[in-house]
Parts: sequence; C-alpha cells; structure tokens
Amino acid sequence: MSSRLYDWFDRRLNLRPVQRTLLDEPIPGGASWIYVFGSVTLFLFLMQAATGMFLALYYAPTPDHAYDSIQFIERDVLFGWFVRGLHHWGASAMVIAIGLHMLQTFLYGAYKSPREVMWMMGVVLFLIVMTFAFTGYLLPWDQTAYWATQVGINMVGTVPLVGDLLSRVLRGGETLGALTLSRFFATHVLFLPAVLIGGIALHLFILRRVGPAGPWTDDRASLSSETFAPRQVYMDAVVIAGVFLAVAILAVSVPLPLTDKANPSDTSFVPVPEWYFLFYYELLKYVHGPLEPLATWILPLCVILIMFFWPFIDRNPVRNPIRRPVALASGLLFLLVVFGLLGISIKNLYAVPRTDPAVARGKAVYAQFGCAGCHRIHGEGGAVAPDLTTVGYTRPDRAWHLKHFPDPQSVMPGSFMPKFPLTDAQLNDLTSYMLSLTRATSS
Ligand code: HEC
Repeated sequence: MSSRLYDWFDRRLNLRPVQRTLLDEPIPGGASWIYVFGSVTLFLFLMQAATGMFLALYYAPTPDHAYDSIQFIERDVLFGWFVRGLHHWGASAMVIAIGLHMLQTFLYGAYKSPREVMWMMGVVLFLIVMTFAFTGYLLPWDQTAYWATQVGINMVGTVPLVGDLLSRVLRGGETLGALTLSRFFATHVLFLPAVLIGGIALHLFILRRVGPAGPWTDDRASLSSETFAPRQVYMDAVVIAGVFLAVAILAVSVPLPLTDKANPSDTSFVPVPEWYFLFYYELLKYVHGPLEPLATWILPLCVILIMFFWPFIDRNPVRNPIRRPVALASGLLFLLVVFGLLGISIKNLYAVPRTDPAVARGKAVYAQFGCAGCHRIHGEGGAVAPDLTTVGYTRPDRAWHLKHFPDPQSVMPGSFMPKFPLTDAQLNDLTSYMLSLTRATSS
C-alpha cells in the first residue's frame, strides 16, 4: 500500500499497533520453510469455506435431489466442476497439511511447556477436520457415500452403553435417510465451521501469548530473532501458492468419482472410503467377532487420548529429537503402522495387473455361465446376489474362490448360489477375474 494512503488511514484508525501485532511477531531463530504448514492449513480452510459457499448455492440436501444437484453442478453450472474439484482435493490437501503441521510440532518438541494447551487445541482442530471429512462424504448421496457412512455409523454403534443412542443421534432415527442427510449437511456447513473458527482463533490467540517455539536448541539465549514479516510471510505465501496450484491441477485433470445414486435396498454394495480413512478400513479387516470393539472404538479412543494428553505423557524437557529416543520411536512406530496399513490397502486395491490374459478369459467364463443374472459389476447385472464390483478387494483369498465356485455352500452355508461344474482352467480364470475386481470406479 502506498505510504500516503496508509498514513491517511493510520491517522484515523491508529493502524500501527495492529500492524505490529500481526506482522512484527518475533520468531526465535528466524524464519524457516519448516514453519509454513500452519499457514497452509489456514489457507486451505479459507479455500474450503469459499468453495463450500459456492457449492451451497446449488446443492440440495435431500435424498431426492442431492445426487442430481451434484450432477447439475458438474455438468451445467459454469465452472461448477472446477469448484467441486477444488473442494474435493482441498479436503485431502487439508488433511495432509494438518498432518505435516502436527509432525513438525512433534519432531521439534514444540508441544512442550509452555505450549501444552496450544497442542491440545491443535488435536481438537484435527478431530474437527476429520469430522468435516466424514460429514462431507455423505453429501453427494451416491452409493459409496451412503454405504461408507453406514459403515461409519455402525462402528459408532459398537460403543458400549451409549453406542445405540449415538448412532441414532447421528442418523436422526433408525435408518440412514432424509434426516441423516440434513443433519450431516447442517453439521458440515453450520456447526463445524462455527466450532472450527472458534478453535482456530483460540489456537492463534495462544500462539500469540506464548510465541512461536523456534528451533529445538537448548541454548535459547544465543538465538537471534526475526519478525514474522517479511521473510516468513514470503515463505508461507510461496508454499500456499504451490499448494493451490497442485489442488487446481488435480481439480482440472482428475475427474471426480460419483458412483450410482444411493440405493438403500442394495445392501450388497461394498464401499471403499477416502484414502485418509483407508488405513483404518484395512485394520478393520483383521479383527472379527469378540475382538471387533478393539478396532472400532477402543483403539481409536486410546490413540486420541494419548495424542491429546501427549505433552503430559512426554515430560522430558529436552526438545532435540536425537536426545528423545523414546518419543521419536513412538512417533515413528505410529507412522509406520498407519502408512503400513495404508500401503497394504492401496496394494490390495490396485494389485492385479489389468492386462493379465487369465482375467480376460475369466470375464468370458463369467458371461458364459450367466453370473450376471444374479450378480452386479459396475452397475451391470442382477441385484439378488452380492455386488461383485470390489470382490477382489473384500475377498482377496484365491483358495476361497477355488473352493467356492464348485460348491458355494461349503464356504457360505445357506447360499442359494448354484454349484458350477467348471473345468480347472475355467475355475482358475474365473478366480483371476474375481481377484481383479478391486476398484469401485470403472475405468
Ligand atoms: C442364482 C443366483 C446366482 C448365480 C447365477 C451366481 N451366484 Fe454367486 N452368489 C449368489 C448368492 C446368493 C451369493 C451370496 C450368498 C451369501 O451371502 O450367503 C453369492 C456369492 C458369490 C460370491 C461371494 C461374494 C461375497 O460375498 O464375497 C462370489 C465371488 C460369487 N457369488 C461369484 C459368482 C460367479 C462368478 C458366478 C457365475 C459363475 C455366480 N456367482 C453365479 C447367487 C448367485
């Protein structure tokens, strides 16, 4: 701003103290590229708010119209597809940005005294962001949205004593329907933004009271100091511009998934969740029966509580990560488990090469024996038997299929699927085809 204009306003509004508070905040040790993730997260939140407002102009939160209104946004609204793309990829970017922000805080020991409350507020903000993701996922009201949300709510239902009540509160009744959709919509666009804005304000207020943590050195006295402007502002702006560009490129080049319109009676649909919930989806596959509550709520609750109270669990005042082997090892172990599960999940989703000739032969066997009379794949076929669109993902076990086709009742008691007298070659090819069906979207 030209200095004369600035002076004109400053004489009337007394701006200099405001400028000092906003831009002259001292950073111990000086500006750094590693401190940008908080600002990036804040920027992405503002982008989500702006794109969300425009989407709300056209979106209709009812089961009759939600799906059509999304299609309308995609096809008819000027730049509607682009705004929806920004909002979709922006959500993923926000999860990554907040994850990196927490990782940096963890690595630098920046959660230690006197910044415990800022960390705890941060964990709350992270949980609010994940709730944004969960509630937003239902809004397109397609098959994936509907059945993934069903799975999520069922998991809440496994919590003892209050589970039933909680899942009914989430659904607004006994079944997932119109009330659930308006409830998720109102939460997504009214309740959560209000809570998140309050939380961000508090997070930043605390930051300004205690000041940024700076580097992890013990010798704080010898640290030089640098104001937030101009270098840190510049670094933040550069990374924000890069992130926006990446999100915009994704929005332009990757078509967004939209499966069939939600069909509450098609219980055979197997949903695949967003990538940031995939590690958890993978974990759920390993626990069954009496162990199920362990994965559905005990483990998540423990992880959240440990995260929340972490500054009081790790009481070692040293901040240099090399001299905090236990904290560093626990952090690494946590990341290893999460990314290990995510990796396995992605590997299962994309495993079988689609050019495998056995898969093509198996597809022919599938057609020859009229499997489509009962089963559906990518929306084609009957609906009396389970949808097989992602059967290779939900049943990755080759031996199971080899046993199943000649005698379905031997592995699925009570199944009315007929026995199929297949040759060994046909059996193998058909199984290869089944195992190749791992993707919710056809390509
Ligand atoms: C008459 C209807 C019918 C036909 C025809 C039929 N199935 Fe099935 N199939 C079923 C039913 C019903 C089940 C599920 C039984 C259950 O859930 O207990 C099933 C289960 C399956 C499953 C396991 C799905 C899961 O839940 O993981 C696979 C895989 C499968 N069928 C493949 C095939 C293939 C391949 C063919 C053609 C060779 C075929 N089916 C023909 C009715 C049929």
